[in-house]
Amino acid sequence: MRKKVTIVGAGNVGATTAHWLAARELADIALVDVIEGVPQGKALDLLEALAVEGSDVRVTGSNDYEITNDSDIVVITAGFPRKPGMSRDDLVRANADIVAAATKEAVERSPRCILIVVTNPLDAMCEVARRVSGFPRQRILGMAGVLDSARFSAFIAMELGVSVENVQTFVLGGHGDQMVPLPRYSTVAGIPIPELLDKTTIDRLVERTAKGGGEIVNLLKSGSAYYAPGRSIADMIDAILKDKHKILPCAAYLTGEYGIKDLFIGVPCRLGSVGLEEIVEIKLSQEESAALRASAEAVAQVLKALP
Ligand code: NAI
Ligand code: 2OP
Repeated sequence: MRKKVTIVGAGNVGATTAHWLAARELADIALVDVIEGVPQGKALDLLEALAVEGSDVRVTGSNDYEITNDSDIVVITAGFPRKPGMSRDDLVRANADIVAAATKEAVERSPRCILIVVTNPLDAMCEVARRVSGFPRQRILGMAGVLDSARFSAFIAMELGVSVENVQTFVLGGHGDQMVPLPRYSTVAGIPIPELLDKTTIDRLVERTAKGGGEIVNLLKSGSAYYAPGRSIADMIDAILKDKHKILPCAAYLTGEYGIKDLFIGVPCRLGSVGLEEIVEIKLSQEESAALRASAEAVAQVLKALP
């Protein structure tokens, strides 16, 4: 039987994720949204596209969670972007209510699913999903590190004029300005980037990566990125559904790893059919450790605004 993925929130990120998943024939897809007609219309449009693509996966859309029954993975993208006049804490509270409601509805119908949280502020929304679902940490992950690392890879490839296929990068930490790109662990054809680029250039690319989400928002004027986020979510789902034991940077609940406890933050995670198989602890320099701790402190501050 084919695997099943539910996506809650059929907006830009949700619909684009469905597109990437369907084109790769990874799973049947259930799209849920509160806006009447939107999940139904996008699901039907995508299903019709698959007739051209030659993909047999089923795509359904509804305002009712009934269609999500027995999903293997539930992706939560439902929520608001930050609006003018809205404080960060207002956004946290508004999206926490949405993520809590979506988690409750979804896990009632798919009690064995793996949750992938995407809604911002990402690390805090993972905590909301953990509290509501009561799931073990193996089955709650947040998507941000794959996206942030993809941005870093894209910028390095452009700078050096090489194929992006040659570039491997790692970005850890919370999904915010204090994320922690790791140049020492980032390579081009196996060569660490400090051997290929001077410090000023690396610092510029790191800064652009940390502000990568904002760069797209400034260009689009309304809304935020969705192609790269959708593709990044699909990468995590691919690793889980194919039991690949693949190491990807994801937000995971730490219980002492990297000296951090009781919060979600981006770390290298080995993903397989159980979800999170292992948090991989790599050796960090003093400076990198301090940056990760500062990033964790920023996440802890956001958690204080949770209802
Ligand atoms: P969007 O506005 O296009 O879509 C959000 C959708 O959620 C809308 O269709 C809305 O009707 C729906 N929604 C609202 N309340 C709902 C509820 N209670 N139940 C079901 N659906 C509900 O926004 P977009 O661009 O898709 O972004 C979604 C979220 O993902 C935002 O919070 C954004 O900041 C976040 N994001 C996170 C990224 C990451 O790296 N973690 C990357 C990109 C976006
Ligand atoms: C991004 O990084 C908005 O979190 C989103 O593009």
